[in-house]
Amino acid sequence: METNKKKLTTASGIPYAENENSMTVGPRGPILLQDFILHEKMAHFNRERIPERVVHAKGSGAYGTFTVTHDISKYTRARLFNTIGKETKIFMRFSTVGGEKGSADTERDPRGFAMKFYTEEGNWDLVGNNTPVFFIKDPKKFGDFIHTQKRDPYTNCKSPTMMWDFWSLNPESLHQVTILMSDRGTPYGYRHMDGFGSHTFSMINANNERHWVKFHFKTEQGIKNFTNDDAVEMKGKNPDFAQHDLLTHIDNGDFPKWKMKIQVMTEEQAKTYRWNPFDLTKVWPHADFPLIDVGVMELNKNPDNYFAHVEQSAFAPAHVVDGVGYSPDKMLQGRLLSYPDAHRHRLGGNYEQIPVNRCPFAVNNYERDGKMRVDGNQGSAPNYFPNSFDDIVADESYKEPAWDLGTGVADWYDRNAEGENDHYTQPGDLYRLMDDHAKHDLVANIVGSMSGIEGPKKDIIVNRQLCHWFRADIGLGMAIAKGLQLDMDAAMSSMAAHA
Ligand code: HEM
Repeated sequence: METNKKKLTTASGIPYAENENSMTVGPRGPILLQDFILHEKMAHFNRERIPERVVHAKGSGAYGTFTVTHDISKYTRARLFNTIGKETKIFMRFSTVGGEKGSADTERDPRGFAMKFYTEEGNWDLVGNNTPVFFIKDPKKFGDFIHTQKRDPYTNCKSPTMMWDFWSLNPESLHQVTILMSDRGTPYGYRHMDGFGSHTFSMINANNERHWVKFHFKTEQGIKNFTNDDAVEMKGKNPDFAQHDLLTHIDNGDFPKWKMKIQVMTEEQAKTYRWNPFDLTKVWPHADFPLIDVGVMELNKNPDNYFAHVEQSAFAPAHVVDGVGYSPDKMLQGRLLSYPDAHRHRLGGNYEQIPVNRCPFAVNNYERDGKMRVDGNQGSAPNYFPNSFDDIVADESYKEPAWDLGTGVADWYDRNAEGENDHYTQPGDLYRLMDDHAKHDLVANIVGSMSGIEGPKKDIIVNRQLCHWFRADIGLGMAIAKGLQLDMDAAMSSMAAHA
């Protein structure tokens, strides 16, 4: 063998003598059990797949930087924001929601907008979407909702009947469904859309004062969407359009950028604001809470291996850093639990050691052992607390101000009780803000999708949903009813029966 060539080896480093023919008894005889390399190759291949994400399975990711452009220290003491010009390394993963890992990334769907900031005080994950609101406002409904977006248990096909049945029975979904059915439901790849933290979070400043905050990411590439027809065509032409678009622009040095902005509400304002500030189906109108500039994110490096970095990346809304905190948003509260649980299932209990997830700064604790512990397991350091040997302490200066929740009464409160049941004003306002072209596309997309409702409950589902569209905006309701070629008298009496 030429000495400048690398030797092919087994996973344990033993050089191969042969890589294309199994060891047999005679040229046409059976294979010998002792061909260990054959076992290793087959066995490793059989184990290549890990569970895909139960949602957001199809995605694309890249590394980049976040740079502070404005001083927001009056709201937060988070170190990553403490100096104008400060740069923090980031990893971002974009995704569709309902489709499998091999599905088309031009599907009508919200887009995931997940960010990991490798800050000096730990990794901060902001796991958002390209929409400021969501379909539901209680995490108990998430699994049921997602089932309607996946495959019917009998037909194994996507089912508009399931989707519209669920949406029509959960009118709090109307705002997000309006966005989804507009052309924003089919963005032109991942570079031309805005991102949102969506939930209300908190910021804590150096005086230990709390403000409620929403995060916004404005694309510098400009908003660009596919029409429904173009998206459908692209699904057939290139199901990996968004992956290819992101990858090639970064490879060509055309780095996508987003401006980070925040909306800020005081604790006092939150007590009297007309919308529940912790309701994920509502926005805070910019007229009431204007956008405040924070910084700029740029994606500038493609990972050299998709599986290692993108597939194994794991984001958790629970991962906030000092100066950023949670809020009582029920959906956020549910997500705090769900994501690390999903990662332990998908990647294993030591998923934080995978390089894309690992904090590049200090990690000191007493967590040890477990499957695939590959980082030295903190060597000979003590594995219990308190101890007389190391100097590791919990630092009370990181404590947040106490929460005054205003009540001590635990119960199952109706999420849509009086005062929490205006599902119509915000989607109606959104529709009225659209230009004629956007209105036309929205109606056409709704009509196209609702036309897929079928089966014995078809009329009930259609009429129940129509009632919601009418309550958002009469013009919108009329246009959809016309598009569905409905007998309005029959629809009206059915709606009256269901109102
Ligand atoms: C209670 C509500 C929700 C639950 C229980 C939930 C649960 C999950 C789970 C289990 C995953 C898969 C995680 C993995 O295997 O890596 C996931 C992924 C994701 N979710 Fe949610 N989700 C919820 C709501 C939301 C909301 C409101 C947003 C956006 C505002 C969101 C954005 C995402 C994103 C972006 C991903 C993909 C992250 C990645 O790129 O790896 N989810 N969600």
